[in-house]
Amino acid sequence: MKKMFHLLVLFCSLRLIGVFSESVSVMEGDSVTLHTDVTEIHEDDDIVWKVGAEKSLIAKMSLAAGIFSIFDDVLDGRFRDRLKLDNQTGSLTITNISTNHAGIYQLDISGFKLRSKTSRVSVLARLPVPVISSNSSNCSLSSSSCSLLCSAVNVGHVTLSWYKGNSLLSSISVSDLSISLSLPLEVEYQDKNTYSCVINNPIRNQTTHLNISRLCHTCEVLFSPEVHIFCCGFTEAVIRLVLSALVGVAAVIILVYDIRSRRGGDKKQISYIL
Ligand SMILES: *[C@@H]1O[C@H](CO)[C@@H](O)[C@H](O)[C@H]1NC(C)=O
Ligand SMILES: *[C@@H]1O[C@H](CO)[C@@H](O)[C@H](O)[C@H]1NC(C)=O
Ligand SMILES: *[C@@H]1O[C@H](CO)[C@@H](O)[C@H](O)[C@H]1NC(C)=O
Ligand SMILES: *[C@@H]1O[C@H](CO)[C@@H](O)[C@H](O)[C@H]1NC(C)=O
Ligand SMILES: *[C@@H]1O[C@H](CO)[C@@H](O)[C@H](O)[C@H]1NC(C)=O
Ligand SMILES: *[C@@H]1O[C@H](CO)[C@@H](O)[C@H](O)[C@H]1NC(C)=O
Repeated sequence: MKKMFHLLVLFCSLRLIGVFSESVSVMEGDSVTLHTDVTEIHEDDDIVWKVGAEKSLIAKMSLAAGIFSIFDDVLDGRFRDRLKLDNQTGSLTITNISTNHAGIYQLDISGFKLRSKTSRVSVLARLPVPVISSNSSNCSLSSSSCSLLCSAVNVGHVTLSWYKGNSLLSSISVSDLSISLSLPLEVEYQDKNTYSCVINNPIRNQTTHLNISRLCHTCEVLFSPEVHIFCCGFTEAVIRLVLSALVGVAAVIILVYDIRSRRGGDKKQISYIL
């Protein structure tokens, strides 16, 4: 039985001039062309394109029979108005691709030439723009560096990186899982270099440039009254103000109490003497 199967496979391999497979990655919204890799269609060739495990027929072309058809209503119409068949080469183009078009596409050419090809099409989701935020909600007087975070939510198959000019500082990658990524960076408040956070997949990238003066408020300016509030947030400024006021009031109360009790003591002393 096994031997027969092997013979059958051998027979098929001999019959077919070519069995090919390829992997193609496409960005969501882009177009992809699956090539027949033949320069010219022979009069006797039959070309069919099928998709998925069900091998649903999506395109068929036969010059001899005068057939040139696209079946874009299969699979709930997910291919509607998205398929193009090249009448010279038989290549199939899927336009404005989305994630539900990912899968295996099979080409069979029979007739004068025999050729079979499978294309594994993966569709990569659009890249979000990376977001840079400050991780120092707290303006520490002692620290001269500013903590930053670059983040991207719900991403898969991407790398998130920090660049200083053109040189890579750090990066983090995620495989097929869809998760949220973040990558820290410490910079000096006075740093004049250009920093950028880049997210990329095997096809494209998105960049956000760091604006240090917007995200990193220097702590030195805390001592200058005009910018006091903008440095550490209004709440903290108010708390500081209230605390100073309370300490002041407490000091006055203690002072007054002290003076009074001394006076009282004096009076008592006097009365004892009298
Ligand atoms: C092939 O398609 C082009 C345009 O799509 C058309 O002009 C041409 O006549 C077609 N050729 C054949 C042989 O059908
Ligand atoms: C591309 O497809 C999406 C749905 O997947 C649709 O919302 C959008 O309008 C299409 N864009 C074009 C240019 O056809
Ligand atoms: C504020 O800074 C202190 C000391 O640097 C640190 O222990 C604390 O976690 C920081 N708080 C926040 C909210 O960042
Ligand atoms: C952000 O700041 C907090 C508190 O200061 C710290 O615990 C945390 O590790 C920082 N996150 C990163 C990614 O540096
Ligand atoms: C981002 O993509 C552009 C082309 O689209 C390329 O020139 C550039 O080098 C890429 N940047 C990074 C950091 O990969
Ligand atoms: C950085 O942010 C500051 C304050 O928001 C703004 O005035 C400045 O134009 C920004 N610089 C760049 C290069 O975007």
